[in-house]
Amino acid sequence: MSSQIIPVEPFDYVVFGGSGDLAERKLLPALYHRQVEGQFSEPTRIIGASRSALSNEEYRKFADAALKEHLKKGEYDEAEVKKFLARLFYVPVDARSDAGWDQLKKILDEGKDRVRAFYLAVAPGIFGDISQKIHDHKLITKQTRIVVEKPIGRDLDSALQLNDTIGKVFKEEQIFRIDHYLGKETVQNLMALRFANALYEPLWNANHIDHVQITVAESVGLEGRAGYYDTAGALRDMVQNHILQLLCLTAMEIPSSMDSEAVRDEKLKVLRALKPINASNVEQATVRGQYRAGASSGGPVKGYLDELEGGVSNTETFVAIKAEIGNWRWAGVPFYIRTGKRLAGRMSEIVITFKPIPHNIFDQSAGRTVANQLIIRLQPDEGVKQSLMIKDPGPGGMRLRNVSLDMSFAAAFNVRNPDAYERLLMDVIRSNQTLFMRRDEVEAAWDWVDPILKGWETAGQQVQGYTAGTWGPSQAIALIERDGRTWHDDI
Ligand code: BG6
Repeated sequence: MSSQIIPVEPFDYVVFGGSGDLAERKLLPALYHRQVEGQFSEPTRIIGASRSALSNEEYRKFADAALKEHLKKGEYDEAEVKKFLARLFYVPVDARSDAGWDQLKKILDEGKDRVRAFYLAVAPGIFGDISQKIHDHKLITKQTRIVVEKPIGRDLDSALQLNDTIGKVFKEEQIFRIDHYLGKETVQNLMALRFANALYEPLWNANHIDHVQITVAESVGLEGRAGYYDTAGALRDMVQNHILQLLCLTAMEIPSSMDSEAVRDEKLKVLRALKPINASNVEQATVRGQYRAGASSGGPVKGYLDELEGGVSNTETFVAIKAEIGNWRWAGVPFYIRTGKRLAGRMSEIVITFKPIPHNIFDQSAGRTVANQLIIRLQPDEGVKQSLMIKDPGPGGMRLRNVSLDMSFAAAFNVRNPDAYERLLMDVIRSNQTLFMRRDEVEAAWDWVDPILKGWETAGQQVQGYTAGTWGPSQAIALIERDGRTWHDDI
């Protein structure tokens, strides 16, 4: 099956931090894929901008190396790469001085009528400076948007400040706050599953759902990001954004349309309905963990503290939370969430466990009936599984068996699974904000996360050690098991 590609208008994408890690690993390969799929209209340019003094030629070499390194086998096509590199330009600019900005303006003026997107793949500390320079050098046209990467703040106050700074120069409809989890195929499929089928919605509430689990497990460790990570920790790095977005899409009411405001209004209501976790209940509702030396991805790995230069830290590399949503739909339904580095595998999924049958008519010899589960798998093998009880086939009387209706997308449709950034980068050009976070969403998420951070501080809640390559500290297992439930740990 082939997917339908609708070309976008010609554009100029200016990537600040154009020679950085994100551009290299994600943005350039994603844009290359969109070109190969035929989504660009001409003339379209990608302009790298950063402090490094590179020429166009040197930047093209950098991009070529990035594609060689990060494309999968068979994806590097000489002719396509040549075409792609020809649309790349580079301007050295300094966010804090006027150096380079006139040159950037000169290049952009060649395409005054095109869609213009500024992507800030840089530290949030200079979001404000760059926005101001963009404004001062008159680079904003009617067709201009700005894309910002997380972290958007490290608490509510800093997020407000950051949003204010960008908001001074850009209108909300021009600001695209990226959360790459929203670009993942299965995350969008969650909306299709819920809102394009009549089957689930009547059951999607506290009358029929026992609990929800959201797991984002990683096998990797710090990957050279100790400096940032040790000041953030798993709650800020993963829960405040990615996991809360997953929770919102799972729990929100049905929006009246896929219009960006309609969808984001509903997500916002979920965030605002989350029951507070603060100093009074933080120790019962949350577990913080930190990995110790162990084995992961097939070999021995260092512990977190050994990866840090200082060697002392109370930063969590794992967090588990029992969250609750205070509204009619979800009253009494726990949402257990957990995420961590150096866990037993790379696995992200949302598991909806339905209530058990109210009365069992089968003999003991038929075996146990297991509550139905809907498993929405984001990675590694994207797809949806619905578990059902059936009769064990063949003779031997009535014996029951729990089986899965398995819908593995890649296998079923035989299409390349696009990276999340591909969809999102093109949505910016199309000016579709549905899969981007609105200002009030980011702030509402911090409003829920802040009291947890403060609660940990007040309670002096320490990190619990876990061996790398396991599912986290034993306290996280206890968090769910004391409610008579277990984590879904199938990799
Ligand atoms: C990022 C976090 O936002 O998401 C990283 O900062 C994390 O710490 C990454 O590794 C996970 O993304 P993915 O797409 O690999 O699940």
